[in-house]
Amino acid sequence: MSGRLKDRIAIVAGAGAMGTGMSNGRAAALVYAREGAKVLAVDRDSAAAAETQRLIRAEGGTCEAFVGDLTDSSAAREMVEFSLSSLGRTIDILHNNIGILKAGGPVDLAEEDWDKILTVNLKSFFLAVKFVVPVMERQKRGVITNIGSIAGLRYSGLPFLAYATAKGAIPTFTRSIALQYGASGIRSNCIHPGIIDTPMLRMTADAGYAKAFGNVDAATLQAKREATIPLGRFGTPFDVANAAAFLASDDANYITGIELVVDGGFIARAG
Ligand SMILES: NC(=O)c1ccc[n+]([C@@H]2O[C@H](COP(=O)([O-])OP(=O)(O)OC[C@H]3O[C@@H](n4cnc5c(N)ncnc54)[C@H](O)[C@@H]3O)[C@@H](O)[C@H]2O)c1
Repeated sequence: MSGRLKDRIAIVAGAGAMGTGMSNGRAAALVYAREGAKVLAVDRDSAAAAETQRLIRAEGGTCEAFVGDLTDSSAAREMVEFSLSSLGRTIDILHNNIGILKAGGPVDLAEEDWDKILTVNLKSFFLAVKFVVPVMERQKRGVITNIGSIAGLRYSGLPFLAYATAKGAIPTFTRSIALQYGASGIRSNCIHPGIIDTPMLRMTADAGYAKAFGNVDAATLQAKREATIPLGRFGTPFDVANAAAFLASDDANYITGIELVVDGGFIARAG
């Protein structure tokens, strides 16, 4: 790694993983730390945040963990206060990675699932930005990276109505911040991951893709899905994290308000 983020302070919201293994949030936290940033790993799951912290420290990086539910404004405020007191008086990077999903269309998705998915997937971004932006304004610099999804751009092949609707809002959220705060030195971009090999992906396989591909076993399902991707493979969480590290670095100093698709060419194809 090139140390592009040396001594920057990065908050990664949703830095744990819903299962064991490498998630997008955990990989982002690791790559920011490998690039020299001091990382605050934030998650509502204390064991998941602690595991990310352990991995970063094992590589010699700097990481503190903060446990909180970011749909709660007092937790979001405390997260910022904890970052300032434990890592240093700036916040250079906010990486909004929190996202949950459940399959379902308008008829079968329960009302409470709709509310929960929109709250977790959007309000957590709003509250993190709400308390981080005043710090970035004071220091007249900062980078906000919001994780969307190709599911917010194209129909995924199965109904994930609430998830896709929430993800569809991320570009507008991102652009609004970019335009309002560009003059304050704050850049705001979003990344749309494609099909990324994470615990979340394995959950969506259970949520209906196996059935949609003819009740195939896991290996056949993976091969069939990978055949739909021009680059011929699922993405890794590090494919997404490397894009985020670029956007957070000075190499991307003139980039704001954009949507960066990291999907192996998946949505570029006609059908
Ligand atoms: N895996 C894919 O194929 C894929 C594709 C497109 C987009 N994405 C997006 O990537 C992001 C997540 O990827 P991941 O692999 O890190 O998922 P993940 O579920 O493994 O990790 C997300 C973390 O967020 C935490 N979290 C959830 N709700 C929270 C809350 N209210 N407060 C604090 N923490 C909370 C979870 O505990 C979890 O550790 C999501 O935004 C998702 O929509 C994933």
